[in-house]
Parts: sequence; C-alpha cells; structure tokens
Amino acid sequence: MSERTFVMIKPDALSRRLVGRVIERYESKGLKLVGMKLQIVPRELAERQYAEHWDKPFYNDLVSFMTSGPSIAMVWEGPNAVEAARTMNGATDSAEAEPGTIRGDLGLTAHRNVVHASDSLDTAKWEINLYFDEAELFSYAMPDEGWLGVKV
Ligand SMILES: Nc1ncnc2c1ncn2[C@@H]1O[C@H](COP(=O)(O)OP(=O)(O)OP(=O)(O)O)[C@@H](O)[C@H]1O
Ligand SMILES: [Mg+2]
Repeated sequence: MSERTFVMIKPDALSRRLVGRVIERYESKGLKLVGMKLQIVPRELAERQYAEHWDKPFYNDLVSFMTSGPSIAMVWEGPNAVEAARTMNGATDSAEAEPGTIRGDLGLTAHRNVVHASDSLDTAKWEINLYFDEAELFSYAMPDEGWLGVKV
C-alpha cells in the first residue's frame, strides 16, 4: 500500500555537501518526491518535532543542532515508504549504522546523523502536517507507474 513519510536532510549534511547523494538514495529506491522545503527550522518548530524527547539529556543539544543551519524537509511516497526510509537511514548512531545505509555510508559522528525519517505511519502524518500545507504536496504520475503491477 502506498504511504507517505516525512524525511529531513539535517544541517550537518548540508554543511558537508551531501544533499545530492542523499536525495539520490531515496530516488533510486523508487520513492516519489511529493514535497520539499529548504529552511532554517525555527526553534519552536524543532521543539515540537522532537517533543517526544523533551525530558532526555540530549534534547537541548538536539534542538540546537537541528536549528543550527539550513535543513531540507521532504515527503516521499511509495509502497511501505515509512519502513523503507527508516531502513535506508540505518541505526541512529552513525558509527553503528550498517554499511549500505545512509548513516552507515555518509555519517561521521554519532548524533550528527545526516537524516531523519518518521518512525511510524501516524508519526509520518503528524510530521508532514507539522511541516507542510496540503497545497505544498503534489500528486503526479511517473512513466513507469504500473510497471510489473507495482505502483511506485
Ligand atoms: N544520546 C544522544 N545524544 C545526543 N543526541 C542524540 C542521542 N540520542 C539521539 N540523539 C539525537 O536525537 C535524534 C532523535 O533520536 P531518536 O531516538 O528519535 O532517533 P532516530 O529516530 O533514529 O532519529 P530521527 O528521529 O532523527 O530520525 C537522533 O537522530 C539524534 O540526532
Ligand atoms: Mg526518531
């Protein structure tokens, strides 16, 4: 079943010129880009996004990191998109992420970990709504849609 998931390219990735390589991963997987926004996330927005971690010792550092420079918010669509993006991103700690994952291949330090992806379908809906208006999301067909019966 087709899903939409929320993905961010974090500020460390922009400052390391990794944007193209990260986007290429999701595209190559067969996901469809349906929303995209470059911004320096306002502190209040980052706090809301990561509210689940408000009581963790790393919360302030996390919010500071996420607002330290431009990041890219994206919505990717496709079959099983939520789990697909999480699997592609790899373990939270880049140092422990498997080779072949985005963090495993491109991540340098534990918690400056290049990318974010929603951890469930419910979280995805909530995060998409947090970052995007409906009019900023696009439905469109791709030439290969329907190929082998797979709706990408
Ligand atoms: N112990 C820690 N110290 C510092 N930062 C941390 C720590 N644990 C997590 N973080 C930061 O907080 C983010 C959110 O942690 P979470 O447990 O939700 O991991 P995740 O779901 O893999 O990452 P994300 O939500 O960014 O996709 C991590 O991606 C990382 O940037
Ligand atoms: Mg998380």
